[in-house]
Amino acid sequence: MTFGKTCALIMGAVVVWSACALASQKTTNDGIYSKAQADAAKAPYVKLCSECHAFTVAALKQPKDLPLGEEPFLKKWEGRTLDELLTLIVTTMPNDGSAVVNDDEALNLLAYVLQQNGFAPGKAALSKEGAAAVIERPKK
Ligand code: HEC
Repeated sequence: MTFGKTCALIMGAVVVWSACALASQKTTNDGIYSKAQADAAKAPYVKLCSECHAFTVAALKQPKDLPLGEEPFLKKWEGRTLDELLTLIVTTMPNDGSAVVNDDEALNLLAYVLQQNGFAPGKAALSKEGAAAVIERPKK
């Protein structure tokens, strides 16, 4: 086989592989959390997070607080993965250095955040693998 042919084959394989990778890339609009998971995370969210994070700009208690919904949030996070949010929550929240939530708890809290943003739930709970999903704007 000539060098040119080998290259063409390799390039073909890369194109197919990338297309598959793109097709399997889930987004926040693919029902990646369950309703039960989100509902159960409401109480911990209220206890640990709601003091500083409302879901609408209007409901913020202090101007410096960040909403986890609406334009400022979606604009900042669109195109990034839930993994990034997960790491941020586990390592830096509730923002006093106490880092009280583990991965599983943070996944549940994220499910609640998705629910409050209007993303439709699916059958399975949000998992560590599911957090590879890309954040999109919720489809109305
Ligand atoms: C005492 C206030 C406070 C509490 C409680 C708190 N946060 Fe935060 N959070 C912040 C601040 C302030 C930031 C901005 C980033 C920074 O300065 O660290 C932030 C940033 C974030 C972000 C990134 C938002 C963005 O748009 O970049 C997320 C997600 C988040 N917090 C989630 C949570 C979750 C989930 C909890 C509950 C476990 C929580 N936070 C509890 C103060 C708080």
